[in-house]
Amino acid sequence: MTKFKDTLKKLTKKELALVPRAFDTVGSIAIFNEFPPELKKKEKYIAQTLMQLQPNIKTVAKKVKQYSGRLRTPKLVLIAGSKSKETLHVENGVRLKLNVESCYFSTRSSNERKRIAKLVKKGESILVLFSGIAPFPCVIAKNTKAKEVVGIELNKKAHKFALENIKLNKLLNVSLLHGDVKKILPCLKKKFDRILLPLPKSADKYLSLALKKLKPKGTLHLYLFAEEKEFKELKKEYKKKFKSVKLLKCGMYSPGVYRVCLDLKI
Ligand SMILES: C[S@@+](CC[C@H](N)C(=O)[O-])C[C@H]1O[C@@H](n2cnc3c(N)ncnc32)[C@H](O)[C@@H]1O
Repeated sequence: MTKFKDTLKKLTKKELALVPRAFDTVGSIAIFNEFPPELKKKEKYIAQTLMQLQPNIKTVAKKVKQYSGRLRTPKLVLIAGSKSKETLHVENGVRLKLNVESCYFSTRSSNERKRIAKLVKKGESILVLFSGIAPFPCVIAKNTKAKEVVGIELNKKAHKFALENIKLNKLLNVSLLHGDVKKILPCLKKKFDRILLPLPKSADKYLSLALKKLKPKGTLHLYLFAEEKEFKELKKEYKKKFKSVKLLKCGMYSPGVYRVCLDLKI
């Protein structure tokens, strides 16, 4: 990034100091999380300079609204490059097609997806609630000997990409269901060895429903947002209901607030 800033010759020292230090790269799209309004007149120049420096980047966008609403989608404005918000992202050995605005997807969770895949044992049946464009199902199915992976997603557009992603990665043991977890889950006849709940805003509300579909000795991965000072209390609370409770930090949500995963065994 220092190199990038060094190439921005047309900016004053004051403007240079305002250039965001980082951006996310999803496929060929670079996304600035927050772009200072003071740089509005220079944003196209900054974006074009970035594309010259990193030819793999074909589009530069800025987030004008963070992940929000029931579908956890962001609002983006394109600054420069190709006008498409669709891209193909590669992580953990899988290819994922998506629209970066109509679907939730975070490259920052790729290590967490790898961590979960490493925990999966041969023959496991896995349920991924809130599966989005299916990054968890794809990474798990591609990198493990799981028997089957089932995903449930409410966002119709994300579900469509998810179906495409299963085909793109030639995965035969993944099935994806479109709809509300609250409605679909009670209708599922089978039980699972491992259930993931990657919806940190409100996953805890679905915990009792998920528990009904967990096999004896099964594992739940519950994602939450929490401050470090809350960790001890959270573990204490979950230890009342579960035999084993592990809390892992798996990213930052906002200053001081972590995205955490509670690995819970019954
Ligand atoms: C934080 S995103 C995670 C998506 C995906 N697992 C990933 O890691 O990229 C949460 C997802 O849950 C979906 N969602 C929210 N409420 C839902 C519900 N009641 N039933 C099914 N999916 C839901 C949203 O549309 C969104 O795609």
